[in-house]
Amino acid sequence: MQTFLKISIFAVIALLGYTLFANVGIPQVRPAPPPAEEETIGAMSMDQYIVLGKKIFEGKGTCTLCHNPVLGGRAPNLVNMHNTSEERLKDPRYKGKAKTGEEYLRESMMNPSAYVVAGFGKAWTNDTESPMPQISGPAVGLKPAEINAVIAHLQTKDGGKATVPLPTGADAAPAPAAAEAAAPPAPAKTAEEALGKYACGACHKIGAFAGAVGPDLTKIGAKRDESYLRRAILDPNADIAQGFPAGVMPQDFGNKMTAKELEMLVKFLKAQKG
Ligand code: HEC
Ligand code: HEC
Repeated sequence: MQTFLKISIFAVIALLGYTLFANVGIPQVRPAPPPAEEETIGAMSMDQYIVLGKKIFEGKGTCTLCHNPVLGGRAPNLVNMHNTSEERLKDPRYKGKAKTGEEYLRESMMNPSAYVVAGFGKAWTNDTESPMPQISGPAVGLKPAEINAVIAHLQTKDGGKATVPLPTGADAAPAPAAAEAAAPPAPAKTAEEALGKYACGACHKIGAFAGAVGPDLTKIGAKRDESYLRRAILDPNADIAQGFPAGVMPQDFGNKMTAKELEMLVKFLKAQKG
């Protein structure tokens, strides 16, 4: 009888704890639905396409995780890209395939290591390898029409002219992906999915990803316990991994993740023992 009582009390406390944690510990903020432009990627004017590009740049593209003057110096500031993109082609170090500024911008996103801006390469690679993730790859997954929208934004934001074509044909049909983009993102079903959804792989080596902005997480489970890992995600500045800058890892995962996503990630990280 006593044991039963103890177990019941424990169960109630555990349940309460979990509920509090789920509802208070990480506030569940529903992201605002994305703007209407994304629902109709076809039939849009260049002005609308440029606005879409800016939104992708600041949102789903995850570009501002790194291209962000507030973070200072982690990645180039991308100013005057309509001129800069053409100047890059004249650099003797340039060995890529682009012939025009537009092609340079596309190549920068699809194959970041084709040309590495001086001083911004991965450590010890002498500017031959870029830490930037491939934007069409699994970490971010932008489609060609979305990449063109971002190019149009980069070309025009400081006064240049957009040279990309407006989306036509297959791109112009309201893609199923557009409908998906309009709904709030569904909770990830697996830890691997959550790594992609929150772009952890853009910065970390983990699972299928090879990010190089933050620490390699493939052995993290051998030296850190679950509470450390949970805190590292919810409050990245509480402990700063040695040799890495504070303030680079996003501070708002606690507002974005569901409790379940957080716990899946913590368990997944705990299992990474090299
Ligand atoms: C994980 C950090 C990171 C993310 C995320 C990222 N970049 Fe980069 N990007 C860099 C770094 C570092 C460089 C400089 C090294 C190089 O040239 O590849 C760079 C270079 C570039 C360049 C070339 C700049 C120049 O002056 O020649 C462009 C264009 C660019 N990024 C666009 C983007 C866009 C658009 C996105 C989002 C779709 C994005 N980046 C996402 C880190 C990042
Ligand atoms: C924009 C880049 C960026 C993104 C995105 C990012 N991180 Fe980080 N992360 C960092 C940096 C830089 C550090 C090291 C500084 C620190 O400890 O805050 C770090 C530290 C960590 C640590 C602590 C490592 C240690 O050895 O103490 C963990 C765990 C971690 N990140 C997990 C994640 C997970 C999980 C995600 C996705 C939900 C994520 N990060 C997304 C940049 C990033």
